[in-house]
Amino acid sequence: MTVWYLMRATGVASLVLLTATMVMGVLNVQRWAPRRVPRFLLQDAHRTVSLLVVVLLALHVVTAVIDPFVSIDLLSAAVPFASGWKPLWVGLGALGLDVMVALIATSLLRARLGLRAWRAVHWLAYAAWPLALVHALGTGTDVASGWMRWLAAGCTAVVAAAVAARFGGAQRRLEAGR
Ligand code: HEM
Repeated sequence: MTVWYLMRATGVASLVLLTATMVMGVLNVQRWAPRRVPRFLLQDAHRTVSLLVVVLLALHVVTAVIDPFVSIDLLSAAVPFASGWKPLWVGLGALGLDVMVALIATSLLRARLGLRAWRAVHWLAYAAWPLALVHALGTGTDVASGWMRWLAAGCTAVVAAAVAARFGGAQRRLEAGR
């Protein structure tokens, strides 16, 4: 029972922090730090929260694997659609996890990889979030309760606004020839 609560809690916390890290990433690239907040602080927060997401995800996966009510082995937590239990929904979570691992690994190796390769992989961040959301709505117990639906809607609104700001900003820069 404790394991099940921990699996749900770490899943929800990962989704919320993934939302926060997406927003901080966009604020960073748009250079939109509040006046009294130095930019490096925002960058540090983006990096730290992303690492925290990975730690929470590791806990989420371990609890899902040891939970006796769902049969998911360690391999199907990493290999998309290999799970015997809800293969589609767990598979989307596994894809999200793989993307997160790729983002963290390439960010840690950024100096060696170079900016171009790092940036190409970092675009995948925009895929990780919807994969996680659809996985949560498909597998989660708490989607049956109102609070989880409100939370998912709130996170969706926040990410949609961040994505609109990101691509709106890019479009404006393109039009201004910058
Ligand atoms: C980006 C990666 C992932 C995120 C952000 C994420 C997040 C979530 C969230 C928010 C829930 C709903 C919890 C609730 O209803 O309270 C959930 C459920 C679940 N996740 Fe994940 N997840 C991810 C990857 C994975 C992976 C790789 C596995 C496979 C081991 C997995 C296994 C599960 C299971 C079994 C449930 C159902 C829990 C329940 O009984 O309610 N997740 N996840």
